[in-house]
Amino acid sequence: MLNKFEKKICCIGAGYVGGPTMSVIASNCPELRVDVVDINKERIDAWNSDDYSKLPVFEPGLENIVKKCRDINLFFSNKVEECISQADIIFISVNTPTKTNGLGAGFASDLKWIESSARQIAKYARNHTVVVEKSTLPVKTAETIKTILNSSLDINPSSEEKKTFSIVSNPEFLAEGTAINDLQNPDRVLIGGEDDYSINLISDIYKKWIDPEKIITTNLWSSELSKLVSNAFLAQRISSINSISALCEATGANIMEVVGAIGTDTRIGKKFLMPGPGFGGSCFKKDILNLVYLCRYYGLNEVADYWEQVVKINYWQQKRISALVIKNLFGTLSNKKLTIYGFAFKANTNDTRESPSINISKYLLQEGSKLNFYDPKVNQKQIFNELDVNEEDGNVLVYEDPYKAVEGADAVLILTEWNEFKFFNWEAIYKVMRKPSWIFDSRISLDQNHLKKIGFKVWTLGAK
Ligand code: UDX
Ligand code: UDX
Repeated sequence: MLNKFEKKICCIGAGYVGGPTMSVIASNCPELRVDVVDINKERIDAWNSDDYSKLPVFEPGLENIVKKCRDINLFFSNKVEECISQADIIFISVNTPTKTNGLGAGFASDLKWIESSARQIAKYARNHTVVVEKSTLPVKTAETIKTILNSSLDINPSSEEKKTFSIVSNPEFLAEGTAINDLQNPDRVLIGGEDDYSINLISDIYKKWIDPEKIITTNLWSSELSKLVSNAFLAQRISSINSISALCEATGANIMEVVGAIGTDTRIGKKFLMPGPGFGGSCFKKDILNLVYLCRYYGLNEVADYWEQVVKINYWQQKRISALVIKNLFGTLSNKKLTIYGFAFKANTNDTRESPSINISKYLLQEGSKLNFYDPKVNQKQIFNELDVNEEDGNVLVYEDPYKAVEGADAVLILTEWNEFKFFNWEAIYKVMRKPSWIFDSRISLDQNHLKKIGFKVWTLGAK
């Protein structure tokens, strides 16, 4: 590796967080060399693809940054060990899914990837290395990482080369779909640490493009906990407004009017009050369950129950939407064809992790429905994987043309708020559907009056 760079950063994990975050750092800090490494070869090949539409993460603005920096000061590779050994700063950005079995199953995060990353760092790092937790982690994970790193010092105490480590927590607050803007203009950057040198080293990176007043420094544990609490508060707003959407449907109040009325109270605020089929994405559910686990661990059962309810309401909203689709289609879906517009967990991303479309589709399939899908950014392979079906199954078809996907369908469900749906030729769609033709708009994104005039029967979330 050339030595023309002031410092070298290695990021372990080239996912939705690692990829965009490192791209923005590389773009703002040409004096730094940034290596993003991943054990997944296919993913790295995609990051290195000449065809930029094949980058593994779709984010508005990402393509241009990768074009500008790749192979200049931003490198994607599988050379995990080599890049660790050359790095001054190592970001850990690997996935931490909820444990599926063993102690804490269903709640606690599985830290096996964090542990294996820490072991690799312990083995291959040289000199002084600042290790940054970027992945969202249970509080006190830094302790685990520290123990693993320090144990490597005991194994080889006589080594001539003295290895030292410090740990910093620097949680990521980017939202998918707006990741580049969030990284470029964050509300704040949070850096938790134990020594000034490391905190300043990481702060100095962000200061290259972010107002120093937005950089908050705390102790390690406050930083780790703030990330969980931040996501729990955001998700809580969604569950709160979704619970009220059901009450609006029952009473004749209109959820968007309620949102407008309460959101103008500056204490409540307008943002993050959009009702929908429930929150998805890789973080909210996992982080709340983590918080619940932590509270129970410390004997705070009432606090745990309080936060767990946010997740329960989220499931309930998905179940309730599925149930009312079935009810409106005369109580049965057998021999009916439904078209689902939108499979991503929200618009402007190709990510489908924890998407409400998954549970809703599964409920509808269980009722005997055939499902046709269209999503502008999600392909057949991903939809089949998430629903655990294959081509032979025959009940699930994925289309690249939204108009083909509705031929002969009894209903269209809007499950992701892709802007293009607003501009579809709904008259043409109505013509090719079976009658009566239903639209279930769980994202409140279409003009119901217009649709009703065309002849559709329309259900819109939060309205009678
Ligand atoms: C992940 C976590 O889910 C989130 O909590 C955290 O805040 C950031 O990291 P994300 O980037 O969206 O989020 O995950 P993902 O897209 O799955 O990327 C993780 C990458 O790490 C994968 O590409 C995986 O191959 C890689 N990885 C995992 C390694 O390179 N080494 C490992 O040991 C484990
Ligand atoms: C979230 C946090 O916003 C981010 O700070 C954190 O780092 C990771 O988790 P993300 O999951 O990418 O980001 O997307 P976000 O925009 O927060 O949306 C999460 C889910 O909530 C989506 O399914 C979205 O459709 C839903 N949502 C969001 C609503 O239903 N209503 C809203 O008003 C906002």
